[in-house]
Formats: sequence, structure tokens, C-alpha cells
Amino acid sequence: MADPDDERRRRRTQAVARAIRSDLGPGAHGRAVDIGAGAGGVSVELADLFEQLVLVDVDAAALAHAAGALAQIAVRARVRTAEVDLSDPAAPPHGLGPVDVVYSVLALHHVQRTDLMLAAVHDLLAPGGRLLVADLDSDGGGYHAHRTDFAGHNGFDRTELAAVLHQCGFRVDGDRTIYVDTKLVGGEPRGFPIFLISATRTD
Ligand SMILES: C[S@@+](CC[C@H](N)C(=O)[O-])C[C@H]1O[C@@H](n2cnc3c(N)ncnc32)[C@H](O)[C@@H]1O
Repeated sequence: MADPDDERRRRRTQAVARAIRSDLGPGAHGRAVDIGAGAGGVSVELADLFEQLVLVDVDAAALAHAAGALAQIAVRARVRTAEVDLSDPAAPPHGLGPVDVVYSVLALHHVQRTDLMLAAVHDLLAPGGRLLVADLDSDGGGYHAHRTDFAGHNGFDRTELAAVLHQCGFRVDGDRTIYVDTKLVGGEPRGFPIFLISATRTD
């Protein structure tokens, strides 16, 4: 039987990718990095926008799956994967830039030192480069309630995240709710809003 969570994730992935595409606008967008790409669902939806695309994740098996998924579709982009632990400040995703666009979907909340990670992303982008982060609003721990091993952030306060982005050298262009992911928590459906925050490297 099909896993209903797969369908939920598929709908979420498509909605988030649509929102990122809309914020980037029409046309070609050069070189891009997907941070915390997982199995590559979002990048499969967006790969046609770029000339070069690197999928970064700590999970080698997920990246192998992503590479397979991207190989199935006809993309103009030169695509590759890079196994990087973004929680390790000694191993930021250097050597990948400069790029024009970085996007990250539901990965930031897994990274303890988001400030260090966003500083590394700033350095990865060319001046004027765009950063798009989709993640959960503060959720009191509900989204990962089923995970005893989860040690990340229980979503983010958008204002606080914007302040960190400013400190890291970004101009915040805006944020909006782009999707509500509905999951069962304690047997009851609960909606978890996902925001998209759009920022630009200014220096
Ligand atoms: C919820 S998944 C999201 C995957 C994908 N962006 C999507 O929307 O389907 C979070 C991803 O972040 C990755 N991740 C978690 N901690 C990480 C870290 N320290 N460094 C790099 N990637 C990490 C996980 O391996 C996982 O693939």
C-alpha cells in the first residue's frame, strides 16, 4: 500500500518548489546550490532554471537517490552532488561557489548553528546572489514529536531569522507563508505553516 506520507511530502515539495520558482522569476538563473537537498525532490522541480546545480547534504544515500532522480529527467543544468555536514563549522560548503542562487527547504531546522551555516552560505554566494529558505514557523516541537532523536530547532521565529540574516550580510527581501503541511500529531491532524524567506547578498 502507498505510504500516505509520501503523497503528503510530494504535495509539499511541489508547492514549495512553485513558490521558489515564483520568487526567482522567469528566465535563467545561472549557478545554484540546494542546501540539505535530501532525495532531491525540490531540485527535480527546479533544475530547468539553472545552468549549474549542486545538491548538498550530509546523507550520502539521499544524495545517491537524488542523483538518480535527476538523471531521469532532461535537464539543461550540469548537476552534481556534494556530501557536506552543514553543522560542522570546520566544514562549510566551500569550494562550491560563487553561485547566483542558494535554496534550502526544511533543512535549516536540522542545523544547530544556523548563524554559522548562513555565514557560510553568504560566502558561497556571489554579491547580489539570492538566498531562498523555506522552513517551519515555530511549532513548539509538534512537527518532530514522533522523533526521539531530533536535536534541531522547533521551527523558527521569522523576525529572529531575519535578524540573523542581516548579521550575516543579507538584505531580507520578504517572507510569506507558502504552504501548510498537515500531519497527525497524537492522532489528530495539525497544520504546520511553512514560510519562504527571500534574501540577497548585499556586499
Ligand atoms: C526534511 S529533509 C528535507 C530534504 C529536502 N530539502 C526536501 O525538501 O525534500 C532535511 C535534509 O537536511 C539534511 N541535513 C540534516 N542535517 C544536515 C547537516 N548537518 N548537513 C547537511 N544536511 C543536513 C538531511 O540529511 C535531510 O536530507
